[in-house]
Amino acid sequence: MNDTFLKACRGEKTEYTPIWIMRQAGRYLPQYQKVRGKVDFLTLCKTPELAAEVTIQPIDILKVDAAILFSDILIPVEAMGMDLEFHEKKGPVLSPALRDEGTVKKLSVPDPEDKMKFVMDTIRLLRKELAGRVPLIGFSGAPFTTATYMIEGSTSKNFLNTKRMIFQSPDLYRSLMDKITATVTEYLKAQIKAGAQAVQLFDTWGGIFSPQDFRDYALSYVKKVITELKTWQHSEKIPPVPIIYFVGETAGLLEEIKTSGADVHGIDWRINLDDAIKRIGSNAIVQGNLDPIALFLPQNKIEQRVKDILGRASSAQGHIFNLGHGVLPETPPDNVIALVEMVHNYSRK
Ligand code: CP3
Repeated sequence: MNDTFLKACRGEKTEYTPIWIMRQAGRYLPQYQKVRGKVDFLTLCKTPELAAEVTIQPIDILKVDAAILFSDILIPVEAMGMDLEFHEKKGPVLSPALRDEGTVKKLSVPDPEDKMKFVMDTIRLLRKELAGRVPLIGFSGAPFTTATYMIEGSTSKNFLNTKRMIFQSPDLYRSLMDKITATVTEYLKAQIKAGAQAVQLFDTWGGIFSPQDFRDYALSYVKKVITELKTWQHSEKIPPVPIIYFVGETAGLLEEIKTSGADVHGIDWRINLDDAIKRIGSNAIVQGNLDPIALFLPQNKIEQRVKDILGRASSAQGHIFNLGHGVLPETPPDNVIALVEMVHNYSRK
């Protein structure tokens, strides 16, 4: 029974610093590619036995301290009524892209146990198969990052359509965000009921905003999700499930991010972890923050960076080691295995 990760999320003392890695199940692992070679990505997400299998791969191979549900942040968008496809080169494509009242009105707030039952089935299966070996993290896209894919229809560089809707049709944006926020809230409740022991909100694109706009157009909806989840857990007498909030390009936004209400804050690599902790406050519980591409360094250089991050984290109330963003498909798996070992060894008191 390894509950080091959950202890760190709660700010309790741990024997060593726990580590998991964003996108730890994925194409850099030959074992993942073997499963993925048989089915397309969406089929993999929708087949609980296969999704559970690739979720557990990094626990066996890397010896990380937490499992993260294998799925995608765009699964709830499909459940809301949009068409979702994953293309080898282009990445995700959602259609028709949301640009007017008509398309937004057609979206529903889905019942997760109906429209996304395969996710909850995967969680239930995983809790059985993991049998307490490590805790299971559930997740959702944060409302804003989810909205960017719906409005742009795909990945974007400058998010023109999204910002144009925000600045030119603010009422339309709010009506869309209300639907996404309700969807995300119900989706995370269902994941927790199915057995998720922590949840992470991914706000990958939050860093495209000025602090004021971030607060108004992204963070306000995250706060709603978190407040609702906490109130619901309290009223249902569900033991508190740690909530992690990850924002890409964190540095300019920390004074805003720290008001999110989340238990743990994900930090990217563009800021020193001790600076981030200072700005969040001494009771900060942080997750991060190695540059994913630092995993292409020779192992003795990775080691220096691990020691540096562990040292900088010492002023925090809690630290969960992670990358500052997802692991890249080209990453040498041996370096990821070595990273986990280093974090465990050098943090042991
Ligand atoms: O972390 C994990 O191991 C759990 C699984 C997970 C995936 N996507 C699997 C995936 C999680 C937590 C995500 C989150 C996700 N998905 C985010 C937020 C985090 C981040 O990385 O910024 C975003 C923005 C997406 C949307 C998405 N999914 C894109 C843009 C792409 C295409 C680019 C890419 O990396 O391929 C995906 C596809 C995707 N999601 C893959 C995996 C393993 C690759 C699919 C394949 O096998 O071909």
